[in-house]
Amino acid sequence: MNDPNGFAPYKGEYHLFFQYYPYDTKWGLMHWGHVKTKDFVRWERLPAALAPDKNYDRDGCFSGGAVELSDGRHLLMYTGVRNVRKRNGKIDSFQTQCIAIGDGVDYEKYEGNPVIDAGYLPEGGSEHDFRDPKIWREGDKYYSVIGNRGFDKSGNILLFESEDAINWEYITTVDSCNRQYGEMWECPDLFSLDGKDVLLISTMEMPAIGLEFHPGNANMCLIGHYDQYAKRFEREKVQAIDYGLDFYAPQTLLANDGRRVMIAWMQNWETTFSKPRDISFVGQMILPRELSISGGRLCQNPVREIENYRKDRFDYHNVMVCGSESLYGISGRYIDMTVTIHPSNEKDMYEWIRIYVANDGDKYTYIRFRPDKSTIKVDRTHSGFPHDIVNVREFPVDTIDGVLKLRIILDRYSLELFVNDGMQAASFILYTPIDASAISFSSKGNVLIDIEKYELEIDD
Ligand code: FRU
Repeated sequence: MNDPNGFAPYKGEYHLFFQYYPYDTKWGLMHWGHVKTKDFVRWERLPAALAPDKNYDRDGCFSGGAVELSDGRHLLMYTGVRNVRKRNGKIDSFQTQCIAIGDGVDYEKYEGNPVIDAGYLPEGGSEHDFRDPKIWREGDKYYSVIGNRGFDKSGNILLFESEDAINWEYITTVDSCNRQYGEMWECPDLFSLDGKDVLLISTMEMPAIGLEFHPGNANMCLIGHYDQYAKRFEREKVQAIDYGLDFYAPQTLLANDGRRVMIAWMQNWETTFSKPRDISFVGQMILPRELSISGGRLCQNPVREIENYRKDRFDYHNVMVCGSESLYGISGRYIDMTVTIHPSNEKDMYEWIRIYVANDGDKYTYIRFRPDKSTIKVDRTHSGFPHDIVNVREFPVDTIDGVLKLRIILDRYSLELFVNDGMQAASFILYTPIDASAISFSSKGNVLIDIEKYELEIDD
């Protein structure tokens, strides 16, 4: 699997579709896989919802969104891809927006597809890079944001409006890359959150920008205000969404209780090929996160429902780490653990502290904090990847009165890190064998920590 698609409520449950190649553990002709949940943790599998069987989507049903129509039917909006080989052997991809309507299980493609094609594009918009419609309903209208490559070859986010989700009108270009943050912008999502408007974007060909944005396929959050009259987005803050190695193509929904919940593909285009032979899956999703705005930043925390799956609490207070420490009860590959690191007085400030997880002595991953630089480094060099790929990420963090809080969720082959109650998040795939489950702490200098750890349990 790759991108999450159509992440939205439908008839009281939450549906999730995803980019899916049913025949192999690699990217191929894109279908839409389908699952649903009541609590964002336990998922029920449903039959694949879309297959590429029409001329306009013969080369793939690419990413898109879903919405419950006012008459109760479920509408999927996706990008149909049709490739044409040119005389010189190169391939031109033609991308149009299509819909399918169904009942939550079975879907039928609309006979008038595509509903948005090249004729709807603003001047200079490329019909070869025009994809990933995210649809929502507001009042009695439907809206959709779609990624497009503009005349300067870089990304634009286009906004469309419709009365019936079938007949669409181009409204405006919400924001443009102008080759500042990568080139093509894909998988957009636009929503209001805590009095601000937020635009999530997946950016291709991003240059490295400090420790905020890594090169290649990156993710970005624009916080500001969408002015409906001027029809443009006023940016106030630009930040990465996730500082890890594996996070792309996020999508959000508005939950029935008003929470804005985000899911994303926990993988990275550059490294999807790199996996051990005995791993029989490729692609996974992050644990859904609740979003809020705090101190002008996007704040992300695992959905609160995960707490219903906690058991076996272990609590430690004021543990002095000095050299290397292991603690009774602190281990596991399916855990929710918060480590609070206290400041020491300046005279004997520790140099660094490391938390080793998924460790069997041979394979391990560590999270390191250095108070002098105020950075977190996650190093998964020894976590089972069979190729010489990038395995280390470092990013700046704030301490609050010298205290740093790290919440670590391990879910078998993944590590998700939440810093200071969600002020930053970082996601990583680990291919470390599942029985590598030891956790230990080490430091240079003396440092005091607290630990609260739970095992997570879902009986399948
Ligand atoms: C992003 C993406 C989308 C596209 C899909 C194809 O990861 O490239 O732009 O719709 O994946 O699978």
